[in-house]
Amino acid sequence: LMMGAMQKLVPLAPDSWIPGGVPDPLIARKHGLIGTPVSRLDGALKVKGAAGFAAEYRFENMAYAALVYAPIARGRVAAIDSAAAEAAPGVALVMTHLNAPRMKNMPVFGSSPNAVGPHNLPVLQDDRIHWNGQPVACVLAETQEQADHAASLLKVTYDAEPSTTTVAGAVANGTEQAMFFGQPLRNDVGDAEALLAKAPVKVDQTYRTPRHNHNPIEPHAATIAWVEDGLVIHDASQMVSQQAESIGAVFGLAADKVRLTSPYVGGGFGSKGLWDHQVIGAAAAKLAGRPVRITLSREGVYRTVGGRTLTEQRVAIGAQQDGTFDAIVHTGLSVMTPHNNMPEPFILGTRCTYAARSFALKVEVARMNMLANTFMRAPGEAVGTFALEVAVDELAVELGIDPVELRILNEPDKDPLSGVPFSSRHIVTAWRQGAARFGWAGRDPRAGVRREGEWLVGTGCATGTYPYYRMPGAEARITLTRDGDAVRAQVEVAAAEMGMGTSTTTAIVAAERLGLPIEQVEVGYGDSAIPGAIMAGGSQQTAAIGAAVIAAHNALVADLLKLAGNDSPLAGLSADEVGSIDGGLASRTDPARRESYASILSRAQRGSVSVTKAGSMPLELMHWSMHSHSAIFCEVRVNAVTGELRVSRLLGSFDCGRILNPRTAASQFRGGMIMGLGMALMEETQFDERNGRIMNPSLAEYHLPVHMDVPEIEVLWTDIPDPHTPMGAHGIGEIGITGVAAAVANAVWHATGKRVRELPITLDKLL
Ligand code: MOS
Repeated sequence: LMMGAMQKLVPLAPDSWIPGGVPDPLIARKHGLIGTPVSRLDGALKVKGAAGFAAEYRFENMAYAALVYAPIARGRVAAIDSAAAEAAPGVALVMTHLNAPRMKNMPVFGSSPNAVGPHNLPVLQDDRIHWNGQPVACVLAETQEQADHAASLLKVTYDAEPSTTTVAGAVANGTEQAMFFGQPLRNDVGDAEALLAKAPVKVDQTYRTPRHNHNPIEPHAATIAWVEDGLVIHDASQMVSQQAESIGAVFGLAADKVRLTSPYVGGGFGSKGLWDHQVIGAAAAKLAGRPVRITLSREGVYRTVGGRTLTEQRVAIGAQQDGTFDAIVHTGLSVMTPHNNMPEPFILGTRCTYAARSFALKVEVARMNMLANTFMRAPGEAVGTFALEVAVDELAVELGIDPVELRILNEPDKDPLSGVPFSSRHIVTAWRQGAARFGWAGRDPRAGVRREGEWLVGTGCATGTYPYYRMPGAEARITLTRDGDAVRAQVEVAAAEMGMGTSTTTAIVAAERLGLPIEQVEVGYGDSAIPGAIMAGGSQQTAAIGAAVIAAHNALVADLLKLAGNDSPLAGLSADEVGSIDGGLASRTDPARRESYASILSRAQRGSVSVTKAGSMPLELMHWSMHSHSAIFCEVRVNAVTGELRVSRLLGSFDCGRILNPRTAASQFRGGMIMGLGMALMEETQFDERNGRIMNPSLAEYHLPVHMDVPEIEVLWTDIPDPHTPMGAHGIGEIGITGVAAAVANAVWHATGKRVRELPITLDKLL
């Protein structure tokens, strides 16, 4: 996806930060705003209930939708008796494959630059059933309760056909090499199996992680209306423009005929994209001739929004007596459907974490009849680091080397597979700072020897990693508007704000760039009418926005100089000789030569000036191996009588380039680490292998950490800027979850002497 887009190179403005080349000059300069803690600009609106979420928009004459889900894994709809449903109070429409409008299949993720469909199956176009939970009907009524009731009256009969709903059955049907964005998930360096066999010290184990489902606090929803020549969707989306374009393709609409807004999203974590419900909602609105609000129940999210596949991973590490790694083998299985292309790429982190003389890395997939899985909270790394980092801990025990020191001993000085240099890697600093803060020194390495009453106490650690990405396509529009002697700036980006602080960080970056107080900067986002395409995915949104703001600011400076003309103190200076400071432009070498934005606009008799510019191509990715890093420490207490497991201390020491907003960054780190706690201790989708049904589709039965499960979490960071990224930053969205489950498992071993290699670490595994 990214490589294809990289071929369209755009020229660079002078004095821009040049990817792969000269560092951003602002990185080296004293910063005013970047690095100071700023509260979320959207926080007060949310607290007051003034922020409108997808299911809070309303249209006149709007109908409410309810879905009916198939209870078989594969087969066909044999018959539908809708008489009772149609006669129920308030019902406006019963839509099935028999009467749904004709639509194209969704363009599946990766098939073209802005395609974000989860699968390419027909949606209510035929009688085929592809997974247990697939929507087979949509009922519209005057109220949600009426729609839900009528949906329960629909009588659908099915002809089940043979299906594959067991892992063993899927494997027996044959496995294949997993592909990720067109590349095989496979690496071979040297003869790892031979070196492993000869290694004097080794571990060789199998690790298992279960299925995980998405549980954003805001269930998926959309409020949809057909207008004169197009479609309006108030949605919850991590990929606003891409989603507008993809749903447009389903209905044969050009991208500019779909207006999709998503200013506030109540959590996404990979799940807030295009799924069947938006397509069905739009189809029902078309058929009924009235607007529709479709709100998935929590069960509906489990039936129609994919999660993370299970994994079975073998990790084997062979080492010399001194601890240096000879061989790293990381192979295993994930499961997919016949109709999507998202394996769980659990070897990604292993590609860049340790030096070794040889590697054998491979992900295979088996196909099952189930809901298409998708991106979820550090896809790959979250579960991959569990296996790798528990194996490293096991090896440390075998070697009698402290697990922190073993990791530092095998720190690579360049990318271990490609040989490409790291752009910025200070993981050893993160380890040292984290160990000092946690109080790691003097740890007794023996397992199961610390007891406080009924409680066994232990500590553990692990590395986390997540790649730096920056997708092309981001644009920023900056508009300066004169307001008497002052100016206001509006910065618009086609980005999504899921509560992580994107709009706040964008305001910080723009204000810093423009030399304006943050109060004079307003950020527009979450609307497909804004030019460009930016995705809150791959932890790359802030870098994408930063590059676009940098490019737009450079263009703005050039435009302002033209407007300033010959009567300005700036006359004769070129764009690379001036910079933005204190609400205006000034010569870089002679600060006395300056003019305020307001004065420039006033003399030019302009009320405003506006520029739109695309960020540079992400060429930095071709020059360097780029990652966010973490060192996770935790302490656990395990009840020797009941097996109850409590994480009593948790600390994350991060190396993620420059931290732009310490306040929102700390929250993102902590949030990710809490997800890691959930993964370690409780998260598990119960999948009925007899029929492919998810058995625990509710927050009552799918357990997530609550306040009582979460200790105070300490976070710290190196704050060392990466000279080769916009603003020196790396992504921080997904790094928090990685490494946590391994750190907990390693601490559990230290507390109890029990090595748990299968998540979640529930009490039955400790007794
Ligand atoms: Mo993330 S799983 O790229 O939203």
